[in-house]
Order: sequence, then structure tokens, then C-alpha cells
Amino acid sequence: MCGIVGYIGDSNATDIIIDGLKRLEYRGYDSSGIALNIKDKGIQVRKKKGRIQNLEDLIAQENLYSNVGIGHTRWATHGEPSDANAHPHTDMSGKIAVVHNGIIENYLTLKEWLINEHGVVFKSETDTEVIAHLVGVFYDGDIEKAVGKAVEKMQGAYGIGVICADEPGKMVAVRKDSPLIVGLGQGCNFIASDIPALLKHVRQIYLIENNETVILTANDVKIYNADHKPVKRDVFNVTWDADAAEKEGYDHFMLKEIHEQPDGVRDTLVRRMDENGEIVLDGINMTKEEIESFNKVYIVACGTAYHAGLIGKFAIEKLANVSVEVDVASEFRYRDPFIDDKTLFIAISQSGETLDTLEALREAKAKGARVLSVVNVVGSSVARESDDVFYTWAGPEIAVASTKAYTTQLVCMYMIGLYMGRKKGTLSDELYKKYIDELLAVPEKIKEVLKQEKKIKKLAKKLYKREQVFFIGRGVDSAVSYEASLKLKEISYINSFAIAAGELKHGTIALIEQDTLVIALASQDRLFDKMLSNIQEVKARGAYVVGVAKENNTSIEQQAEDVIYIPECMDEVTPIVSVVPLQILAYYIAKQRGCDIDKPKNLAKSVTVE
Ligand code: AGP
Repeated sequence: MCGIVGYIGDSNATDIIIDGLKRLEYRGYDSSGIALNIKDKGIQVRKKKGRIQNLEDLIAQENLYSNVGIGHTRWATHGEPSDANAHPHTDMSGKIAVVHNGIIENYLTLKEWLINEHGVVFKSETDTEVIAHLVGVFYDGDIEKAVGKAVEKMQGAYGIGVICADEPGKMVAVRKDSPLIVGLGQGCNFIASDIPALLKHVRQIYLIENNETVILTANDVKIYNADHKPVKRDVFNVTWDADAAEKEGYDHFMLKEIHEQPDGVRDTLVRRMDENGEIVLDGINMTKEEIESFNKVYIVACGTAYHAGLIGKFAIEKLANVSVEVDVASEFRYRDPFIDDKTLFIAISQSGETLDTLEALREAKAKGARVLSVVNVVGSSVARESDDVFYTWAGPEIAVASTKAYTTQLVCMYMIGLYMGRKKGTLSDELYKKYIDELLAVPEKIKEVLKQEKKIKKLAKKLYKREQVFFIGRGVDSAVSYEASLKLKEISYINSFAIAAGELKHGTIALIEQDTLVIALASQDRLFDKMLSNIQEVKARGAYVVGVAKENNTSIEQQAEDVIYIPECMDEVTPIVSVVPLQILAYYIAKQRGCDIDKPKNLAKSVTVE
């Protein structure tokens, strides 16, 4: 997510804004910028790709003193990281500057309208620049009204800050679906995308709600609702320290990111569906003929991303009617795989910088494959070297243990399968609609699971001393078992092991003895009875079984010591839901063990070496 900071008051806005942006660095960004309303010079914008230090170096030679300004750290969604794409953006007159956190879903339509109807010349590839020009074309001396008219045309999510050269004593901010807060100072006021940016200056804030507009001056803050009626808002007193504030009150980034999954799944899904519910993949330009020409699909990745690929195999084979092979990148590169121009190579990578995945992609490309990548970091190496890119909109993932990136990668797998099946004409309208409806219902189902956090935390207290755990499952549940096992081992250092339940009898069951902990994923209705048999197998050898099942399959309670239930959903899409309780379980077991959850020993967030 992008970071916003704005200041209006009697001190120098430049220093305050830069300092505030630095306190948002933890969120991840690729560029930053500042816009100041300077006496006799109007709006001055300075912005740079890369670290905030680059911006500081840029303005170090100037004396940019102002009492009002806005700043931004950008996490690219539309348009690569660059100086031109960095915020703030200005209108054609250069008198209005805007910073924005979120995504304007109809920006292309608005861009066309601005170019055709108003002769606007765009300087960036971003959706945000559209906002600046909208305000500019509507501005007739009243910045509040101009912002109101601009917002009426915008669809999507936005937290925005606006300043205008002709109205230096005022700042306007609007919130819809992206976070926005107001800091209340003495002789000054602030806006920000979240609390850490302001903690050094204020502890009293207004939490701005959806569809509210805020008008700030140095000594006053007014909030209006969507009907432009004034709103009375209680002051929220911040008691958090800076470290807690970065995690928005959660003890770790991992837990915060687990809780961000409903939004991440929704954003990744909904923002690629048009008004008719058709999937529109903005970063993929495959023709029907090209899709029909693929006779082999490889999904290649590492770690959690590889586990997402295992689910991708189920989804794409079923929906796109094509053979899919999944491999870890470090193996794929050295087994001289068969690749030609009828091969589709799908790389999955949260960071987009994992060297094994990047090198595997390069080999596939060199042998003529079409390369599609599913990436979370815009403009990363994997994205840049792919023919098509499907960005997960999970937002920056800070914790080393991947959670929200994984569930959004799963959404991408289903959407790629649906997109390909639709284009090939092998997917019935009925099945297409069933999947879309099921996927749209997933965010609420994840929220249902998150309500069980306390119950799962209690279960973790029972289990955290274990030194060995087996995860078993069948079908997609075996793929989820691998991911659940990795989550547990990488943050709790417990020796956890995942295996397809049907494989147990071929050797591994020799390890099951009295009180061995087995976590059995039994979410698939069509394989439920088979899983009950596997549970009986391990129970017969003394295992302690924790079951994961849909809420209607209560017969599992006769076999398992503990059961975690998940809401009813179509078998094929349960992985996006069933992984969540196991992420929470891994988190609280690691917490009980006193582990460094966000930065586990020996691990890096992005493995850029072989
Ligand atoms: C997962 O929790 C780990 N952090 C690790 O396995 C990770 O998924 C793997 O290194 C791949 O990273 P990427 O998605 O950035 O390519």
C-alpha cells in the first residue's frame, strides 16, 4: 500500500513530511515525492524513484520552506517505479497537487475522457494522475467543490490528499476504502495513511470513515459525509509506541498480514472483473489461438509460491483443459525440461526477485515458451522479464513467512484457469459462474475463520511443545498440507512434515506412535470418508489427531481429538480458506515458543541467491 503524509500549520512542512514518510518505509515502497505550496512560487513538486534518501538528496540543495505540503511513498500498482510515476501528481495548470493511496478502477475511461474532452496531456502511466487532472478541470476557484466533483466520477479505492496554489491555507482529503487519518496538533493539522507517520507530533487523531471528505486549515478540521453534511467525530487517543503502530496494533506483521487476507483476496479478484462479471486480466494479452496452442503448462516457483502452484495445477487443468506440471525452480533448471513454443511457463513469486525462479524463467523463455508471471511486487525482475504479468494486489508483505501473498496467488491460479477456459470455449457459463460466485464469497469466509482466532490460540497452547508434527491431506488438501507444514516449521522451528494421506501406508506410518501429532486436512467432501480412514489408520497407532473439516462434517469429531471447522464452500476453492486456520495455528505455536516470528533465523524475505 502507498503511504500518505500531509501537513498544514506554522512550521516547515518539508521536514515534517519527509520524516513522516520515513516512518512509513516499513510498508514497502519503490519511490517517493513531496509537493509544497511555496509563497510566490506556487506548487513545487519533487519526486524520485528509489529510497527516500534519493528524494532528500534531490531537495538538499534547495530551501523549500512551506507551511503546507503533501508527501507520498509509492507501492506501484499501475505503471513501473519511476520518477514520472512517483506521486504527487499535478493538473495541467500545475496549481493542484494530489497524493493517492489505492486504485482507481475506471482510470482508463476517465483518462480517455480527460484527453478527448479536455485536451489533457498525461505525464505518467499512473491511475493517480487522473485524479489531479479531474480536480484541475473542475476547479473554478473552490478546491473543495472541485475535489467533490472529481470524486463523484471516480470508482475504486482511494485515500487522497489535495493542495492548491491559489488556496494556500487549505488542504482537502477524501477517503474511500483506503486508510486515512487526521492528526490534530496545536496550530497545525496532519493527514496520513496510518498512525506511525504522525506519532512524533500528535497522539490525538480522527479516524476518517468511508466516503468522508476532510477540510484542514492550520487551526481547524471539518469532516463531511457523502451528502456534504458536517460530521462530528470523537478524538482517538493513540497510546501505541512507534513499533506497535507500524503493525497497527498487532504483535507481528505476520498476524497483521493474516488479517489482511480478506481485503487482498477481494482486491485481487474484484478489480479484474468488469460490470458483467467477466474476468479482465489487464496484464495478460493472450489470444484464443495462442491459448489453444499451449499443449503443456509448467508452473515453476519456490517455497510457498510453489505450494500455490500445486493448487494451480488442479485449477488450470480442470478449468482450462490442459496438462499442467508443477516444479520447484531449483529442480526445473537442471532437469533439461521439454519446452517449445507450445509451452506456457507460469512463474509465481511474491518478491519477483527469487533467483531460482528468475533463472528458470530465463531458461524457459530462451527455449521459446510463453512466460506469464504471478507477482506481488510491481516492476520486479520476474515481472519485467515476463511476456505477461498478473499482479497479486496483496500489498507489501513484510513478514518473512508468506500468508496474504499465498492466498492471493491462489486467486490468480483460479482466475488464470477461468480466463483460459473462457477464451478456449471449454468452460461452460454455468461452471464459470459457479466458480466466480464461490471466489467472491471467499473473503467473508476467511473473516469467519478469523473469528476463531482465540479458539485456535488455545489449541496452540496445547500443542506448542511438540517437536514433530505430520500434516496429511488428499487432493488439494495435500497441497495445503505442504504450505501449512512450511508455515509451522519456518517460524516455530518444529520439525513438521507433510505427506499425501494415501502415501502414509507406503513407509511414513512407521513413524507414527503413541501421541504423535497428526494434523489431518479433510476439507474435501468427495474425499472425506477416505480421510476418515486415514485418520483411523494413525489413531490405531496412537496418534493425537487435529482435524480440519467443513462445518457440516461433524463426524470427524468421533476420530479427532480437536477439530477446526471452516465454512462450507465448493471443494475446489477450499484451499484459500482452509490454509487460514493453519497460518493462525503456526503463528500462535511460534509465539508460545518465543520465536522471532517476522524474521525467523536463517531466512530472508527474498532469496536472491542460488
Ligand atoms: C514462505 O513463507 C517463505 N518465505 C519462502 O518459502 C518463499 O515463499 C520463497 O522463498 C519464494 O519467495 P517468492 O515468492 O518471493 O519468490
